[in-house]
Amino acid sequence: MTASISDILLGWYDGHARDLPWRNPPGNPPPDDPAWPYRVWLSEVMLQQTTVAAVKPYFAKFTARWPTVEALAAAPEDDVMAAWAGLGYYSRARNLVKCGREVAARGGFPSTEAELRRLPGLGDYTAAAIAAIAFGQRAVVVDANVERVAARLFAIDEPLPAARKAIRAATGTITPHIRAGDFAQGMMDLGSQICTSKAPRCLLCPLRELCAGYAAGDPERLPVKPAKKPVPERRGTAFWMTRNKGAEVWLVTRPDSGMLGGMRALPDDGWSAQDNGSGVPPVAGEWRTLGAVRHGFTHAQLTLEVIALHTDIPPEGEGQWWPIEGIDNAGLATLFAKAARLAVASV
Ligand code: ADE
Repeated sequence: MTASISDILLGWYDGHARDLPWRNPPGNPPPDDPAWPYRVWLSEVMLQQTTVAAVKPYFAKFTARWPTVEALAAAPEDDVMAAWAGLGYYSRARNLVKCGREVAARGGFPSTEAELRRLPGLGDYTAAAIAAIAFGQRAVVVDANVERVAARLFAIDEPLPAARKAIRAATGTITPHIRAGDFAQGMMDLGSQICTSKAPRCLLCPLRELCAGYAAGDPERLPVKPAKKPVPERRGTAFWMTRNKGAEVWLVTRPDSGMLGGMRALPDDGWSAQDNGSGVPPVAGEWRTLGAVRHGFTHAQLTLEVIALHTDIPPEGEGQWWPIEGIDNAGLATLFAKAARLAVASV
């Protein structure tokens, strides 16, 4: 009898699993510890659109500060937002707080994919990943790495995103009933270590002989990507307002809706992914131009000019004077941390 794809993949995972702080070693059932699903959930939310290397220090910081979902649920939302600063896609942090509070209120994480899916902000992927990894349930887990492995293994050459249906169905046919969490993470590791998007290392792949994409001669072209739309260029202005001999700067908290919602920031001129900012400062005065920073968002590439004014009069609206010496602790989103670095370096 020939071994199944899942057996081969699990055998490979047993010897090659990455040792990651949110993981159980291969072959072990999920620990019966309420902190376990919490750690899996936290890691999966952080890993959406974010690399393992970028997530590791944040995962360590969050689990040291909030070791349980109850601890996270009791934290002020602003503290969680500030701790998330630099990780990007900030709506994840707001949803994390909302979901964590609901889980704590109901006494812990539910264990089935369907119940997990009903938690606030928890999508198909995350529900399946938690069910499989934290609770050992059979669930079909498809992230970008799994998508690439499956598209090649089954030579699915329909372009994305339409191919997702076939990719999901194909992944379902090879997902085992036992060790579904190891299987999912084995597929992720194979995708990130061997079946890489550029220059896949097919000669090291345990599934090579079963891979239709390899047999067809050009696995690298799969999955077929849709043509990239150009990202629009936008311009905006951030305002570096200081007082007290330049020791403090005026910071605001962005509204919950919109880009970088809920994050602490420099005041700005209302730029968005759709429009340039007005360029109009919040108070009149002799503003000095300090330079500009660039930042890429999913839907726009922004050039943010930074202009400065020394003034003791705060602009209208809510905000606070923040000691510039402690600006690294302000929890500024990366764009504004770049702007602050520019300002600090130029005065
Ligand atoms: N990406 C998303 N979830 C992951 C996991 N559990 N391990 C490694 N990479 C991942």
